[in-house]
Amino acid sequence: MAKTKSKTSPAAARRAKTAAPAGTAPAIDIGLSTAERRKIADGLSHFLADAYTLYLKTHSFHWNVTGPMFNSLHLMFETQYSEQWTALDEVAERIRALGYNAPGSYAEFTRLSSIREEPGLTEAPEWREMVRQLTVGNEAVCRTARKTLKTAEDAGDDPTVDLMTQRLQTHEKYAWMLRSLLE
Ligand SMILES: [Fe+2]
Repeated sequence: MAKTKSKTSPAAARRAKTAAPAGTAPAIDIGLSTAERRKIADGLSHFLADAYTLYLKTHSFHWNVTGPMFNSLHLMFETQYSEQWTALDEVAERIRALGYNAPGSYAEFTRLSSIREEPGLTEAPEWREMVRQLTVGNEAVCRTARKTLKTAEDAGDDPTVDLMTQRLQTHEKYAWMLRSLLE
């Protein structure tokens, strides 16, 4: 008697692969491959590290700025770091939604960031140097956002594209505003 080979439809095979016992976490199946999710999460982790380092530097300059521009820079830096702080959360939560952990320590941020830290305690720079550093810092964040946006675009990850587009618009605007102070 000929053996009949049971045929499994692709949809059933996929269901079987992602099925999890009742009450346990199912495998992530949001229409992006594991490799795509990992690559985007990696890009977002670099972005988060850059954005966090820039946030901290902007806040530190808000504290340590001196000179004739004190009032306007103290307020300008506050506006920028407050907005940046809120955006950090969106980025970290996007990494989580893609199935990966977000970096969350100074050591991890230092390792992942393309922006150099600036000491505040002993050698805070004068205001023009602060503005220069924040200008190039915002531009560094823009470059990382653009790279991550391209990775997300290639994978069809619209929420990440949307998030990176918003951050690009904001950081490009900050870079322009800061640069204008030195022109
Ligand atoms: Fe303050």
